[in-house]
Amino acid sequence: MSIVEFIKKKPKAELHLHIEGTLEPEHMFVLAKRNNIQIPFNNISDVKKAYNFSNLESFLKIYYEGSKVLVKEQDFFDLTWAYVLKCKEDNVVHTEVFFDPQTHVYRGISFDTVISGIYRALKKANKEFGLSFKIIMCFLRHLDQESGLEILNQALAHKDKIFGVGLDSSETGNPPRKFEKLFKKAIEKDFITVAHAGEEGPPEYIWEALNLLNVKRIDHGVQCLHDEKLVKKLCNNQIPLTVCPLSNIKLRVFKKLEEHNLKKMLDKKLIVTVNSDDPAYFGGYVNKNLIEIQAALNLSANEVKTLLINSFKSSFLKEEEKKEWISKI
Ligand code: HPA
Ligand code: ZN
Repeated sequence: MSIVEFIKKKPKAELHLHIEGTLEPEHMFVLAKRNNIQIPFNNISDVKKAYNFSNLESFLKIYYEGSKVLVKEQDFFDLTWAYVLKCKEDNVVHTEVFFDPQTHVYRGISFDTVISGIYRALKKANKEFGLSFKIIMCFLRHLDQESGLEILNQALAHKDKIFGVGLDSSETGNPPRKFEKLFKKAIEKDFITVAHAGEEGPPEYIWEALNLLNVKRIDHGVQCLHDEKLVKKLCNNQIPLTVCPLSNIKLRVFKKLEEHNLKKMLDKKLIVTVNSDDPAYFGGYVNKNLIEIQAALNLSANEVKTLLINSFKSSFLKEEEKKEWISKI
C-alpha cells in the first residue's frame, strides 16, 4: 500500500476543527440567499480571492463575516451534516468539534438554535455510520471574561451535549491569563479544558494555558520549539498538540509546508496530531493535510502511523475505545 493510500484508508480522529470553518463558499451563497443575508462577495471567484490571508487577524475578519449566513437550526444542521460526510470520505471515525457560540449569540441567534443544529447532525451521523464525537465550546479571546462567563452560564443547560471548553480567536494581546477565572469556573462545572496557544503567540502563552487554565491539550502549539523547558514539560506530561499544517501556511505562520516544524516536533517525541482547523478556508480536510505534510517533509510510513495513533491517543475517547481504534492502524 502506498503512503497516500495508507493515509486515506486508515481510521483517524480529528481533534481541531471549527464547525464554522467548514462553511464552503458554495454553501455560503445558498444560505445567504435562503436567509436573505448580505455577504460582501458577488460570486465564488470573489470569495476565493478574498481567502488570501496575511495572518490570523485577516482571516478572522472574513470568517466572522461568513458565519452571518447561519441563522436557523436547520442551517447549523446542514453545515454540520456536510462536514460529517467529509469525515466519512476521509475515514475520520471520531471527531472533536469546536463551535463559537458568542459569534452567533451576539447577532441575535439563540444558543439553543446553534447547539441543537450541530448536535442533531452529529447524532444522526453516529446513528447512520457510527461516527463518534465530542463537542467543545470555544470562548472568543478578543472578548472579555465577563462575556465568557455569561456564555458558560447558558451552556450549563446543555451540559449533556458539550464535553469541554476551549479558547480561540485573536491570540496576540489576549493571553490565557485573561481567562483564569472563567476556566476555573468551567472546570468546577465539570468541563474539560483546551486552548489555542502558540499559534502566533509566544511560548509564554502555552505555559499560561497549562498552568492557569489547566488544559488537557494545546491547539496549534507550534511555537513551543522556541522554549526547550516547555518542550520537556509537554513531553513529560504527555500533553498533545493539535497541529494544523495547511492553516499554518494560509495564515503565514510558516512560509511554506517544507518549512513546517511538524517533523522536528515528532523528533522531540512531542505528541502531535494533524488536523484541518477551518478546512473550507484553508484548502483541505484532514486527509489533504496529512497527504501534503507527508510529501513536504518526506515523513516516513512510521511517522505517519504515529500521527494516526496520536490522533486517538490524544482524543477524549475512553481508554478501551482508543485501544480498539489504535489496533486497526
Ligand atoms: N485560531 C484562532 N481562532 C480561530 C482559528 C484559529 O486557527 N480558527 C477559527 N478560529
Ligand atoms: Zn483553530
